[in-house]
Amino acid sequence: MPDVLTPVLTDNWDAAESWKLSDYESRGGYEALKKALGMQPDDLITAVKDSGLRGRGGAGFPTGMKWSFIPQDNPKPKYLVVNADESEPGTCKDIPLMMASPHTLVEGVAISSFAIRANHAFIYIRGEVLHVIRRVQAAVAEAYAAGHLGKNIHGSGYDLDVVVHSGAGAYICGEETALLEGLEGRRGQPRLRPPFPAVAGLYASPTVINNVESIASVPSIVGHGADWFASMGTEKSKGFGIFSLSGHVRTPGQYEAPLGITLRELIDLAGGMREGHELKFWTPGGSSTPLLTSEHLDVPLDFEGVSGVGSMLGTRALQLFDETTCVVRAVLRWTEFYKHESCGKCTPCREGTWWLVQTLAALEKGQGSEADLDLLLDQCDNILGRSFCALGDGATSPISSSIKYFRDEYVAHLTQGGCPFDPAKSTAWARQEVSA
Ligand SMILES: Cc1cc2nc3c(=O)[nH]c(=O)nc-3n(C[C@H](O)[C@H](O)[C@H](O)COP(=O)(O)O)c2cc1C
Ligand code: SF4
Repeated sequence: MPDVLTPVLTDNWDAAESWKLSDYESRGGYEALKKALGMQPDDLITAVKDSGLRGRGGAGFPTGMKWSFIPQDNPKPKYLVVNADESEPGTCKDIPLMMASPHTLVEGVAISSFAIRANHAFIYIRGEVLHVIRRVQAAVAEAYAAGHLGKNIHGSGYDLDVVVHSGAGAYICGEETALLEGLEGRRGQPRLRPPFPAVAGLYASPTVINNVESIASVPSIVGHGADWFASMGTEKSKGFGIFSLSGHVRTPGQYEAPLGITLRELIDLAGGMREGHELKFWTPGGSSTPLLTSEHLDVPLDFEGVSGVGSMLGTRALQLFDETTCVVRAVLRWTEFYKHESCGKCTPCREGTWWLVQTLAALEKGQGSEADLDLLLDQCDNILGRSFCALGDGATSPISSSIKYFRDEYVAHLTQGGCPFDPAKSTAWARQEVSA
């Protein structure tokens, strides 16, 4: 088994009461905040830039550079907004992090807000996870009581108020500008850019929006130094990240490892695929990232490595499917999700996702003809790059990648008159595929 885990964010998750301030402080928690308050805000921004930290919410934008875009000569208040909406199918890292160690996030919020000179920060949490909202609220209350938040933090003269906001449960509210609309009390739909949030974000003021894991990584960078962080990972994808393994693997869960680890190594760490089965397909970063197959077990899981094979690192949500899974069925389920979550603002996505479901559902039942595969690809082509936000693009990823790797399986649905994986329709083709 490879010895490549780098538990930093997850280090205290197995402690008896890891979420409590007393436990967090007994491990050196909030020391990085005290150190940061003795530094110049610009030096903190430089440290985060030098660390090479790239956004952990999917797109991988350099965090320090994002912070430096905040115009400090703008007289309006500055805001930090933490994106804790986590609703991408398969993504499961921010919610466990907030449950197990909410103070890692709260400390990160305090340091990051100080760096960008914000006196108000918001943590926008997906509304369905009430237990997580309660846990983060309790941690924020503990941090206020201990003087880590509020007025004149640790005698530094710096004031910070933190608001925990509950979303109403819409995947689109994870898109940063739709999130801002939601936070301002409006319907969650993306905004036109420019202006970018750094210039006119929350309440038309300069705003930094970062993912939970990005902000939670900041205390360790301040505490151990930028070079320590940059010594892990690969040339352009520095540091560590939480990889969430789910599906047909023996020990699913969160594995914190340097960027650049491979799926083969992660599967070994997770005890292998379930007994007697083999990997068929997987998502590297949630359902919006194109599917990969067992050909890609040795691809380095960093931003460059995954994009080099035509997919995206995304949120490192590794969903693993073995040979018993019908890829057409799995893709149909994801597509139904995108159709349901499309916010309706733009026509290609609103109408297109509906049509994708119609075409796919028919194919899954064995209805239609092979020409419908080209129709599906044409529908994807009319959504990808033509939608107002990345939700539309993401909806096409599972379809086009599955047709690329598993065209025969789609055709088999047509020739068999239904799903070959359905036991009632089990045919020689399916038995052969399943046992291969
Ligand atoms: C449909 C959609 C959903 C998204 N959901 C999330 C989410 O739940 N959490 C998140 O951090 N980023 C999400 N993003 C990405 C955000 O728009 C944004 O890039 C991210 O919060 C920036 O933070 P980072 O730079 O720290 O990664 C989503 C994007 C789209 C298009
Ligand atoms: S792509 Fe979809 S989710 Fe995004 S704005 Fe258009 S309709 Fe809304």
